[in-house]
Amino acid sequence: MEKTIAVIRGDYSSREFVKETLRVLDRIAEKYGHTFHYVDAAMGGDAIDQYGEPLPEAELEKCRKSDSVLLGSVGGPKWDDMPGDRRPEKGLLKLRAGMGLYSNARPATIWPQLAPASPLRSDIAANGIDFIIIRELTGGVYFGDHKTENYGTEDVATDIMTYSEHEIRRIGKIGFETARKRRKKLTSVDKANVLDTSRLWRKIMHELKEEYPDVEYEDMLVDNCAMQIVKNPAQFDVIVTENMFGDILSDEASMITGSIGMIPSSSLGDTTVGVYEPIHGSAPDIAGKNIVNPTACILSAAMMLRYSFNMAEEADAIEAAVGAVLDKGFRTADNQSDGCTVLGTTEITDKILEEL
Ligand code: IPM
Ligand code: MG
Repeated sequence: MEKTIAVIRGDYSSREFVKETLRVLDRIAEKYGHTFHYVDAAMGGDAIDQYGEPLPEAELEKCRKSDSVLLGSVGGPKWDDMPGDRRPEKGLLKLRAGMGLYSNARPATIWPQLAPASPLRSDIAANGIDFIIIRELTGGVYFGDHKTENYGTEDVATDIMTYSEHEIRRIGKIGFETARKRRKKLTSVDKANVLDTSRLWRKIMHELKEEYPDVEYEDMLVDNCAMQIVKNPAQFDVIVTENMFGDILSDEASMITGSIGMIPSSSLGDTTVGVYEPIHGSAPDIAGKNIVNPTACILSAAMMLRYSFNMAEEADAIEAAVGAVLDKGFRTADNQSDGCTVLGTTEITDKILEEL
C-alpha cells in the first residue's frame, strides 16, 4: 500500500523520538512492501519560530490532506511566556478541532516486564492493568470562551464549559462500541452531582445503554474514579469521559503502568484520518541527550497502522518487537529496574529494529 503520513516533529525531545519512529516505519515499509511518503508539517514551538503562530493554516491543510498524522509532542520553556492564544499547545487544540478529531483513545496497559516500575503495591499491579480511556477531545471547557476581565480592584477569569447532546452521543457510542470489542464493561465518568454538563452527559449515556444491553454499564463520579484507578485498576475495561476529566485521568492511568514513556494514543473523528501521538510531553529537561524513551511514539505509529491503514499484522509486529526487547532486559532510563540494561533512544530503537 502507498500512504502519505504528515509528520509533526514537535519540540525538544520530540524531535529525537519522532526520528527513531520513522526508522521503525521505514523498516515496516521495507518488510511488508509498502511505501510511506512523509510530509513534514510544523506545529507548536517549531511553527511559532518559523511562522509566528502555533499552527498556520497551510500546515493544518497538509495534515488534513494526508492519510494520517504522526505527532511527537509540542511545547517547552522557550515559549512559556507567549500569550495564551499563541502558545504551542494552542496548535494542538487547533489541530484536533480543525480535523474534527473528537475521540481520543488512551490505553493503560501494564507490560508485565515493567511491573516492578509501577508505583502501585505489587499485589495491586499483579491483578492486571488493562483498560482504555476514551476521552472526548473537541468540546468542554477546552473549547468554551476564555476571558480575564479587570474589575477595578482585581482580575476575574472565566472559562466556559459546554456540551451538546450530539457531542455526548457520538463519543458515548464509541465508548460502548469499544467495550463491545473488549471485555464488555463501560464506566462513564462525570461530575453529575455538581455540573449541568455532566447531568446531560449522564442522561444521554443512559439513553445509549438501552442500545447496548450486552455491555455492563456504570456511572462513576470523577473524584471516585481517580481513587479507584489506584485502588483497584483491574475493575476497569473502558472508561468514557469528557475532555478535561480525560486529560487528568489519563495521566494518572499511564503512571500506574510503570512509565508514561510507554503509552501511545489515537485521535479520530468520522474518517480514518487520525492523529497518533505519545501521551507524554516534549521532555525539555532531557532533550538532546539521547535518553528519551521512543516507545510511546513507536507504539503510536503501530496504532496508526492498525486503525488508519488497516495493517493489523504490521502493528502486531511492532508491538511484539517492543515486548521482545523488554523481555531481553533492555530499558530506557525512565523505567530502569534491577538487572536491566539501560540504552539510549537510538540504541533501544536499534534493538526494536533487530526484532523486526
Ligand atoms: C494532552 C495534553 C494536552 C491536553 C495539552 C498539551 C494541551 O496535556 O494531550 O493530554 O490537555 O489535551
Ligand atoms: Mg494531558
